[in-house]
Amino acid sequence: MRLRATLSAGLVAVAALAIGGSAPALAGQAPRPPQAQTLKALAERHKLAVGTAIDVAALADPSYRRIAATEFSTVTAENVMKWETLEPVRGQYDWTQAEQFMAFAAVNHQRVRGHVLVWSNQLPAWLTEGVADGSITRAELRGLLRNHIHNVVSHFKGRVWQWDVVNEAVTDSWDSTGGQIGYKGFWATNLGPGYIADSFRWAREADPKALLFYNDYNIDAFGDGGPLDKTQFVYDMVRDLRRARVPIDGVGSQAHLSTRYGNYSAFQIADMLNRFARLGVATALTEVDVRNLLPEVQTGDTINPLLQAQAYDYGALMQGCLASRHCISYTVWGFDDGHSWTNTWDFGDGPGREAMAAIYDAQYQPKHAYRAIQADLAFAGPPLVQPRLPQRPHR
Ligand code: XIL
Repeated sequence: MRLRATLSAGLVAVAALAIGGSAPALAGQAPRPPQAQTLKALAERHKLAVGTAIDVAALADPSYRRIAATEFSTVTAENVMKWETLEPVRGQYDWTQAEQFMAFAAVNHQRVRGHVLVWSNQLPAWLTEGVADGSITRAELRGLLRNHIHNVVSHFKGRVWQWDVVNEAVTDSWDSTGGQIGYKGFWATNLGPGYIADSFRWAREADPKALLFYNDYNIDAFGDGGPLDKTQFVYDMVRDLRRARVPIDGVGSQAHLSTRYGNYSAFQIADMLNRFARLGVATALTEVDVRNLLPEVQTGDTINPLLQAQAYDYGALMQGCLASRHCISYTVWGFDDGHSWTNTWDFGDGPGREAMAAIYDAQYQPKHAYRAIQADLAFAGPPLVQPRLPQRPHR
């Protein structure tokens, strides 16, 4: 008797999950249990988009392609919409790889996060060298940036949901001078920080409907609110941009975490997202991954605790996002350990030393991290978790 009661209560819960999800039960058939549903399907009930960065070359691998196509409702080009790829030779745009990416998204009915218009990295050599040797003047540089934004945003007009307009524009506590966070990088050095407002206005001119985002890392939680609190600096920047009627619609927290630093609770993430939302902007988690400092000897004893800590961080980010109704997408920066950028990047201890950062292993098997965010999506609901609110571009 007791067993039957528990069982049928379980079935009712599972049936409730299927309602409003994208996998409704056919008449007479048992609904799919949540662990058999995709992230995309489970997120629909919350009107949350779940995404991944796409490595266009990896789409040739059928397993990669299948997961990329089925698990996610939004995609970001990992590299092929960056300036060095789009305009390798001055004045000659090459849209080939970006269009391969766009075709994949279109065929799978996925919404696109455009990444990235203005950043200090992965700029074409003709641009950085031209500025360095003085053959490109500052006045000319401003015109080049304006044209680039106009060209790229117009090219993809109507096909991009969210644009990362400006990426990683401010310092961290460790590279700040004068004891305070400030602006950094190629564009601030050469044009001054006014390029940020200009860039949002130029992007808006070219596409009135796309949501325009500022995107950065290490802004996952507020600190002490003092001069070395990067999140506070970005908050003040966005507040000032909104006051000046600059068309900024969103803030993307990249959320590149590492288990070695312990990182944040779901409450800290939710607090950060809700504070930005109160400025009148949408938010998104745009490049989620959680690295592990790889142990010298990899055994169950050394690896299992890392994978569990990693799952905790992925879950804290998902719960925080679910808790804020303006958090509209949760994107992982690559979904499998085989293709993650962490395999070659140097985060301070040498290339590839902090890795195993994704939600699937290198054999495309779901890790604890996948199960954690899958469970968060399945078990969350009212009153604390409500569907996302519609977001409209600012004029
Ligand atoms: C990374 C890519 O994943 C790598 O393949 C590339 O070599 C370097 O850039 N922040 C960003 C992303 O905004 O564009 C970066 O992507 C990761 C950090």
